[in-house]
Amino acid sequence: MIYTKEQLCVDETMSRVRELNGGGIRRVFVQTFGCQQNEADSEKLVGMARAMGYEPTDTPDMADLILVNTCAIREHAELKALSMLGRFKALKRKNPDLIIGVVGCMVAQEHRALMLKNDFHYVTFTVEPGRLYEIPSLVCKYIENRRRSFIFGDGEDKIVEGIPTARTHAHRAFVSIMYGCNNFCSYCIVPYVRGRERSRSSADIIAECRDLVRKGVKEITLLGQNVNSYRSDMNFAQLISAIAELDGDFTIRFMTSHPKDTSDELIAAMAKYRGRIAPYFHLPLQAGSNSVLRAMNRTYTREHYLEILGKLRAAVDGIAVSTDVIVGFPGESEEDFEDTLDILRTARFDMVYAFLYSPREGTRAASMTDQIPREVKDARMSRLLALQDEISYQKNERFLNTVCHVLVDSVKTGEGATVYTGRNPENKLVHFTADTARIGDVVNVRIDRIAAFDLIGTKIN
Ligand code: 5AD
Ligand code: SF4
Repeated sequence: MIYTKEQLCVDETMSRVRELNGGGIRRVFVQTFGCQQNEADSEKLVGMARAMGYEPTDTPDMADLILVNTCAIREHAELKALSMLGRFKALKRKNPDLIIGVVGCMVAQEHRALMLKNDFHYVTFTVEPGRLYEIPSLVCKYIENRRRSFIFGDGEDKIVEGIPTARTHAHRAFVSIMYGCNNFCSYCIVPYVRGRERSRSSADIIAECRDLVRKGVKEITLLGQNVNSYRSDMNFAQLISAIAELDGDFTIRFMTSHPKDTSDELIAAMAKYRGRIAPYFHLPLQAGSNSVLRAMNRTYTREHYLEILGKLRAAVDGIAVSTDVIVGFPGESEEDFEDTLDILRTARFDMVYAFLYSPREGTRAASMTDQIPREVKDARMSRLLALQDEISYQKNERFLNTVCHVLVDSVKTGEGATVYTGRNPENKLVHFTADTARIGDVVNVRIDRIAAFDLIGTKIN
């Protein structure tokens, strides 16, 4: 079901918090862990906090409200968030009115929410990612009667439109188009913490994109756990085509895609709107062995994956492709792992994001008996990275001495030199020198040097 914030009285609650707090400056500190979806969610956290009268600060010590937006994809992400929370205990002791909210995927899991409730007495509330619009009412409850609240994992599947959003950048924007995942890959916690797939209406998405372009946004990234399975009155190929048809000077990206939903229609749309849709595709492979893919419940084979890749490359000349790979999935034999190396040699990805398998409580793979020892995973990871570094470097050779369009993201001055950083359409990180350039400009950069993970050049006019 799609609701508006008015239907859920979010505005009224935010005003109520402002009233309760009276005058005086209040501050919010937001810490984000994890993926781009979390970054997009955090823009809503800041947006709601502002509407409640809290101005953002970079220093937790100054904050009256702390929101930690957590990730659960691997254990490491959870440990980072918990260790940060540990540091906030002293702040709460100094300022008993401090409100500490823990939100996002980690606390959608019952065992984590209960742990915070019972062992982290200084935490005020938890909210799962599908119910962030509840934050104003939780803040309100705490200010009014010191009530702590722990909301987790009840399968909420609302979409709430109109939540205030404080955009981090003026030139790049995330637009969530769908939430949740139905795939239940056997290693993955996402379907449990973000719920079932649900899509925003195409009219709302297109209106949001039109508005962003009108405000000068140069690049829109459409977000979803599985953008290709977007469904409303349009499918994903139709939606991206409708956005591509909007007037203005902007580029579209999207993530993440599942190979099973990467349709010919989408590939054709990318070819048709080349220049408007960036020639870049992130297509998670996860493993090169068919038996591991089957155990992962990925529903495609290595042959099928390579076929899609071939179609993409044939349709969109020069397209850059990146992927995700999991190393050390339960039962992964030396031969299975060799299959992964082999497919990396064949596919020649621009970039591989490789992760050590991390058991997630409640997923099928966590209870598989043949878990791989850490030393074996580490050794396989080193071999994979050594191979891929070489391939990534070779893939970047095509940019040497060419001129790229680069959308400028940041400027850093140090040791006498000013270095600008941005991304080219193929999503490569580009560092360059220039007489002058502004964040948000698209500039021409001649590539003078390459490395495996970035390109180095000089702005030309
Ligand atoms: N362990 C390691 N990596 C994981 N991923 C998802 N779940 C796990 C896990 N339990 C990886 C997948 C996915 C990426 C976002 O994170 O490769 O594509
Ligand atoms: Fe996780 Fe698979 Fe869904 Fe991606 S498609 S979020 S890996 S369950």
